[in-house]
Amino acid sequence: MKRQALSLPLLLISSLVGASNAQQLNSNTLNLVRARMNQSSTASWEIGTRIQTLIEVDFSSMSVFSSNYLTPTPPSAQTLNPVLDIARRVVNTRSGKQLVQDGSAADPASIGVGVLLGNWTRAPGANWDTAAEDQLDALLNGTPRSVDGAISHRTEIVQLWSDYVYMVPPFLAYYGVLTSNTSLISESYNQIKLYRKYLYDSNTHLWRHITTAPIDPAGPQGVGDAAAFNFNDTGYWSTGNGWAAAGMLRVLGTIKNSPYSKQFDDEQGDLKDWIGDVHNGMTDNLPSSGVFYNYADDDSTGADAASTALFAATVYRAVTLYEPGHYGDIVDAAERAREALYANNGTVHFDGEGWLQPVVNPNSFHEIGAQSPEGQAFVLQMDNNWKEWVSQGSKSAALGRMDLAAASGLRMLVLALVASLLVVW
Ligand SMILES: *[C@@H]1O[C@H](CO)[C@@H](O)[C@H](O)[C@H]1NC(C)=O
Ligand SMILES: *[C@@H]1O[C@H](CO)[C@@H](O)[C@H](O)[C@H]1NC(C)=O
Ligand SMILES: *[C@@H]1O[C@H](CO)[C@@H](O)[C@H](O)[C@H]1NC(C)=O
Ligand SMILES: *[C@@H]1O[C@H](CO)[C@@H](O)[C@H](O)[C@H]1NC(C)=O
Ligand SMILES: *[C@@H]1O[C@H](CO)[C@@H](O)[C@H](O)[C@H]1NC(C)=O
Repeated sequence: MKRQALSLPLLLISSLVGASNAQQLNSNTLNLVRARMNQSSTASWEIGTRIQTLIEVDFSSMSVFSSNYLTPTPPSAQTLNPVLDIARRVVNTRSGKQLVQDGSAADPASIGVGVLLGNWTRAPGANWDTAAEDQLDALLNGTPRSVDGAISHRTEIVQLWSDYVYMVPPFLAYYGVLTSNTSLISESYNQIKLYRKYLYDSNTHLWRHITTAPIDPAGPQGVGDAAAFNFNDTGYWSTGNGWAAAGMLRVLGTIKNSPYSKQFDDEQGDLKDWIGDVHNGMTDNLPSSGVFYNYADDDSTGADAASTALFAATVYRAVTLYEPGHYGDIVDAAERAREALYANNGTVHFDGEGWLQPVVNPNSFHEIGAQSPEGQAFVLQMDNNWKEWVSQGSKSAALGRMDLAAASGLRMLVLALVASLLVVW
């Protein structure tokens, strides 16, 4: 209630300064952010996230969020080379069925979208087809599953991580669309549904981070040190909620912008509901600072700018992809988050080299660390999605929130109105 009562004047004020430079990153800072992402993305999921980010930002017509990403003839491999180069290096150095062998069954699959793009464009210099098939086979037939079919995030044991939603289902859906295989599209949805069953808490509208589950005795058994991964992380890891929302958005976009959209209408409805759940749960937990805690409901876990950027990125994306209803408070939260990260032209939350600060240690999720390759990518996604949202007229904007491009004459009128409101107060 309090939030409602306060929000109108606050929103009006913030809209007046909305277009000021203080809330943008200048191109120099953005380039630094990108250079740091480029140089630091070495772990499998970081490579996959970097590839996805570059597709969305630099080759947006090829991203699954574009209504015609499935061009009648394949896109030019030459044009896409900056992205394909990253995937090519992985394909040519792989040493097993997975694209990378790092103990995760899921993270290496995040690179699979780049590999499929290489295959589709018939890019030279790699055996894309076999690499994609092997990665798929490792997931479907070589990884332990829960008794109800959830493919483990780990190779050792059945352990389900919210991160998985960004790493695996988007690969399955894209694979299914490019090879006209609807059972793979179904499987991408099914895996999300299963992970949600284990990890989503309907009381808080948030996803827990990690749970173990009994292994299906009829399927593949684990390899490696099972004891080391026999743990749960039941907290609401903010980045994990972002991974879940972002992964669901990618699957939704992949299906929506494909010839299979009608056939998977119900699934798209579920995905929208489930994305909205995360956005509601996170919005309820946004601190007044505009920066989430590492675990969304626990202020002892430290501020984390990485998950904050990912949250905002997914909100703008949801709005531009399908204009969800009842998003007023959620869009406000995304704007508050973005404005917090961009405060003083980014000098508060970015250091001189373009590193986002402070950030969770991506290799030790309970701790605040020094630098986050994925956090760098999340900033680029947020900035890109925000600009797209603004260029589309800031649609689904909250009541009272002005379009950032609103005429300045109107601004003066609103300023007068706000001033009088405050006086009456
Ligand atoms: C980052 O990497 C991409 C892909 O290799 C490249 O196109 C881009 O120029 C790089 N940007 C920076 C700032 O290093
Ligand atoms: C790779 O491309 C070939 C030729 O277009 C196609 O037949 C095959 O299905 C593709 N494989 C994958 C995994 O996309
Ligand atoms: C779809 O992909 C799965 C997994 O690779 C495969 O078993 C199945 O035969 C494929 N279906 C079609 C129609 O190609
Ligand atoms: C993890 O949570 C699951 C589901 O609640 C439970 O069955 C399992 O015993 C827990 N494992 C550990 C190590 O606490
Ligand atoms: C932000 O950058 C703009 C131009 O890039 C500059 O005019 C403005 O003074 C800067 N503001 C702060 C707070 O540094």
